[in-house]
Amino acid sequence: MKGVILSGGRGTRLRPITHTGPKQLIPVANKPVLEYAIEDLKDAGITDIGIVLGNVGREEIQKHIADGSKLGVSITYIVQGNPLGLAHAVGCARDFVGDDDFVVYLGDNITKFGINALVERFQRGSYAATVAVQEVDNPSRFGIVELDKNGEVVSFVEKPENPPTNLALIGTFVFSPDIFGAIKAISPSDRGELEITDAIHWLLQTGHSIDPHIVEGWWKDTGKPEDILEANRFLLDQIESCLDGSIGKHATVSGIVEVKKGATIESGAVVRGPVSIDQGSLIKDGTYIGPYTSIGPDTMVKNSHIENSVVIGESEIETNENIVDSIIGRRTVIESREEKLPDGNRLVVGKGSQLGI
Ligand code: DAU
Repeated sequence: MKGVILSGGRGTRLRPITHTGPKQLIPVANKPVLEYAIEDLKDAGITDIGIVLGNVGREEIQKHIADGSKLGVSITYIVQGNPLGLAHAVGCARDFVGDDDFVVYLGDNITKFGINALVERFQRGSYAATVAVQEVDNPSRFGIVELDKNGEVVSFVEKPENPPTNLALIGTFVFSPDIFGAIKAISPSDRGELEITDAIHWLLQTGHSIDPHIVEGWWKDTGKPEDILEANRFLLDQIESCLDGSIGKHATVSGIVEVKKGATIESGAVVRGPVSIDQGSLIKDGTYIGPYTSIGPDTMVKNSHIENSVVIGESEIETNENIVDSIIGRRTVIESREEKLPDGNRLVVGKGSQLGI
C-alpha cells in the first residue's frame, strides 16, 4: 500500500503566516504539521509516500523533507500546481499509485490515533474506500456523511449549509484505484473545485462499497490560527520533560519542559511548562515563558512575557507587553515602543515581519 499526502492549497485562512511558506510546514510543538502525517503513515507500515505540492511553498517542502530518508520513508514529489480541489490533487497521484490501494492523508491534519485501525478495516473488507469520520460541532466546515435510518451511508456532501448530520470526513482515507474513475467522472463544484466528497459520492452511487470508520479521540484540521494553537496545546501535553540544553543556575523551570540541545535558559528567566524550546534559542533574564508555548529554533527572547503561543523561529522578541494566544512567523523582530498599548496583544505575524509594539 502507498501513501499520498496532499500538501498543495493556498493556506488563505492562515495568512499572513502562509504568505511566504506552506501551512504544512508550520511547526506545532516544534515539529512541522506535515511530519505528523509522515509518522502516521510510517507507523502503519507505509513508507512509499507521494507528496502532492501546489505552487505555494513547493521548494520549502522539498528542501525540508528531501527524499524522506531522515524520517525513514521514501518520498516522491507530485506537482499539482493550482489548487483545483482535493479530488484533482488525488488524481495527480495516478501514476505514482499505479494499481495499488493507497492512503490519502490531508497534509494539514494531525490525528492522535494515527491510521492503523483505518488501514486494517479497509484490508479486512472489500471496499472501494474506507473513510475516517467523527462527529464535529461545526459540520458546515467539513465534508459530511449522510446516513439513513439504518445507519447506512446515503450521501457525501462538501461543507453543506444545512448539514444533514454532524459526521465529518476528517482527513484520512484509504482508496482502491476505483477512485480514479470517480475523479474522471465528476465535475467541479460551485466553488470551482473537484471535491473528494463528490468522488466518494460517485463511487457510492455507482454501486461501490464505502466504509465509514468512526474514530474516537483528538484530531485537528490546522487550517486556522486558533487550530494551530489548539494543536500546539494538545501536543505539548504529550511531550516528556527533557532538559538537553543549558539551564542557568538561577533560572526557574517547572512543569513539563523540553529544552533542546543548543538552547539556553539564562539565570533569571522563568519557564512554566508545558513548553518546548528548540535548538539555538536563548531565553534571557527577565523573560517569562508560560504554559503551552513553543519557541522555535534560533530565537532570542528578552524581558518578555509569552504564553499559549507558537513562535516559529529565527526571531528576536524584546517587549514589555504580554504576548498571548499568538503565532509569530519566522524571522520576526518584536520590540517595545514608547506608546502604551492594551495588555495582552494578540498577534498573528508573518515571516519577515518587523513589529514595534
Ligand atoms: O479537514 C477535513 C476536511 O478537509 C474534510 O472534511 C473536507 O471534506 C475536505 O474537503 C477538506 O476540507 P478543507 O477545506 O479543510 O481542505 P483544504 O483546502 O484545507 O485542503 C486540505 C489539504 O489538502 C491541505 O493540506 C491542502 C491540500 N490541498 C487542497 C486543495 C484544495 C491540495 O493539495 N490541493 C488542493 O487543490
